[in-house]
Amino acid sequence: MEIIKVKDSDELGRKAAEIVIETIKGKENPVLGLATGSTPEKLYANLVEKCNTGEITFKNAVTFNLDEYVGLTIDDPQSYHYYMDKHLFDGIDIQKENTHVLDGEAEDLQKECDSFEQLIKDAGEMDLQILGLGLNGHIGFNEPGTAFDSRTHIVELEQSTIEANSRFFESKEDVPTKALTMGIGTIMDAKKILFIVQGEQKADILKAVVHGEVTEDVPASVLQQHPNVVLITDIDI
Ligand code: GLP
Repeated sequence: MEIIKVKDSDELGRKAAEIVIETIKGKENPVLGLATGSTPEKLYANLVEKCNTGEITFKNAVTFNLDEYVGLTIDDPQSYHYYMDKHLFDGIDIQKENTHVLDGEAEDLQKECDSFEQLIKDAGEMDLQILGLGLNGHIGFNEPGTAFDSRTHIVELEQSTIEANSRFFESKEDVPTKALTMGIGTIMDAKKILFIVQGEQKADILKAVVHGEVTEDVPASVLQQHPNVVLITDIDI
């Protein structure tokens, strides 16, 4: 794992954007895996800016988002659909039909997961997967105990995740208890992973992820086994 230490979230956003741009520039049809949460916000702001100045184009890019809550409408401000439109898609020249976010309102959720998995396969390998880290070590919404070879699936969120994410909702009761997420196996298939982690509150879990045992109890520890991970963080590890 290559580790890039940054001083703050601004530098993290800039450095992460450089890596995304590098990936996109050389490719005819770049395939990107995208993440939500507060950590990628500055990265996306940088990409929007670079796209507006003509430095990059997303015209031929295809994207797949890591996860989505079950039960929120796509225009709900807490849905990851809404987040992606607001922070990235509406600000860049991507073709909307090339963006894929799991439908947490699908009638048949398992079928939705299976067809998402198939779409990723059809797009070819993911050139770059952007990944954040949950306080309990989750990646996407793969909670502790998830099999390393899992594919896109339905999850019951842990109480600790509901609590951590309740900061975005009016109350804890409003946080969905279920979500859809790419599996850990799906994530690990990406050619390269851009792992971005910020904030002292994640210091202990990040140390366990990078230096600890590779175990399904700490889902992100699987990244130690991926051949091409770049970690950008403001944490001393
Ligand atoms: C959510 C998402 C994850 C994300 C995590 C961390 O739970 N499902 O994909 O990595 O939050 O978010 P933040 O960057 O806000 O700490």
